[in-house]
Amino acid sequence: MSNLLEVRNLSLKIGVQEILHDVSVSVPRGGIVAVLGANGVGKTSLMRCISGIYHATGGSILVDGEDITKLKSHEIAERGVLQAPEGRQIFSNMTVLENLVIGGGPLGKQELDHVLSLFPRLEERLKQQAGSMSGGEQQMLCIGRALMRKPKVLLLDEPSLGLAPKLVRFICDLVERIRSEGYSVLLVEQNVKAALRIAGRASVIEGGRIVIEGEADDLARDPRVTDAYLGGHVH
Ligand SMILES: Nc1ncnc2c1ncn2[C@@H]1O[C@H](COP(=O)(O)OP(=O)(O)OP(=O)(O)O)[C@@H](O)[C@H]1O
Ligand SMILES: [Mg+2]
Repeated sequence: MSNLLEVRNLSLKIGVQEILHDVSVSVPRGGIVAVLGANGVGKTSLMRCISGIYHATGGSILVDGEDITKLKSHEIAERGVLQAPEGRQIFSNMTVLENLVIGGGPLGKQELDHVLSLFPRLEERLKQQAGSMSGGEQQMLCIGRALMRKPKVLLLDEPSLGLAPKLVRFICDLVERIRSEGYSVLLVEQNVKAALRIAGRASVIEGGRIVIEGEADDLARDPRVTDAYLGGHVH
């Protein structure tokens, strides 16, 4: 089976700093792949290389077999790679509806109905100023906005950040549901336990390099993962 997203031997240097080194990750069609790691190891930088905000200094990125390594971010978005960025970056002074419509593609109405069916909380708040919503609601809006463009590959950068356990579960269930609808997801998380529960495969980054890669179930039992990232046990 061909991979929808393939990151091959990617490296990124900014100034003298080597931020990513020989990173390879692939997302199969209809799969969830997790990239895990502590603060500052390069997770967001990897996402930014894929979405064209940063340009890799080595390696390549393929989407559906097409090399997108040198494309601009809007061209990459047009090819169906959409990022729900870290820190959400919604338009605080606009309403929920305006945020969604701005993210929308030509299908508009149909996509809006789909997003609102996934997030009833947003439907209740369409006219509310986005910046006045809770952190969890803003995260829903951020994911909803990316979904408005029917992404082939959805890039989620720490969707669980700052959310209470119940909301983390909601977001995880939602990501699984999106996957069951045929979307492919690259999920960056520090919440290793939550990510391994929903991912098929996962990679752990340390210092800009992938140090462990494999089936999520195997990683959840791997002492190198459990000791360093899960406090020694998985429930
Ligand atoms: N534009 C930039 N200029 C200089 N350094 C950068 C730039 N972007 C990222 N870095 C550095 O690259 C390293 C990795 O940052 P990155 O944001 O990718 O980490 P992260 O794994 O997402 O961390 P976190 O979990 O805290 O979000 C950091 O040391 C960061 O300071
Ligand atoms: Mg980050």
